[in-house]
Amino acid sequence: MKKMRVAVLISGRGSNMEALIEACRDKEYPAGIVLVISSRPGAKGLEYAKRAGIRTEVVNHTEFESRDAFEEAIHTILKETKVELVCLAGFMRVLNPSFVNRWRDRILNIHPSLLPAFKGLHTHERVLDAGVRFTGCTVHIVRPEMDDGPIIIQAVVPITPKDTPGALAAKVLEFEHKIYPEALSMMAQGRARVSGNLVYVKGKKIKAKGLINPPF
Ligand code: GAR
Repeated sequence: MKKMRVAVLISGRGSNMEALIEACRDKEYPAGIVLVISSRPGAKGLEYAKRAGIRTEVVNHTEFESRDAFEEAIHTILKETKVELVCLAGFMRVLNPSFVNRWRDRILNIHPSLLPAFKGLHTHERVLDAGVRFTGCTVHIVRPEMDDGPIIIQAVVPITPKDTPGALAAKVLEFEHKIYPEALSMMAQGRARVSGNLVYVKGKKIKAKGLINPPF
């Protein structure tokens, strides 16, 4: 089977990158990670990717005089490695519209909230401050606005009174590791198709079950 050639962009821990690498080990999985780029030299995820035998590159944003120059360097490596799809996984740099448009519909991102709610940083603190009963995570196609774009898949996580930002982050992360490989698979197989601001998924039996929280 010809696997889709995927790059993962990270800035730190890289646990979502790990989940993608592990999913790709399956012979039947429709994508393969051929490249990991980190915006930070010390990113923990780089070691894991190297051990998995994947090409790693550091494109240190502090060494470039403009965001355009930084992104041009990333674009060149992606092209050189014949990358077809890019997964942002804790990549903490905002991308210019010119880069996003060059890779239109070919960049995915994961965010630890039920988008379009709670875009940006310190998500779990803000979720708890808002007193919402559910949070979750989202994989979406990247558009020029931060944490914005057509939604591929979401997971819902109920909030309990004991949750701290850290506890919530851990609970949500477990679901991130499940939905990101699923979203990538759907894109690589062509089961998920982007049209305007929406993603259509075909051939998937969705067992839709409502969630009520607090339960009664
Ligand atoms: C993840 O929780 C991801 O959803 C979040 O950063 C974390 C990275 O963890 N991304 C964003 O907040 C994007 N706006 P990881 O490096 O272990 O995958």
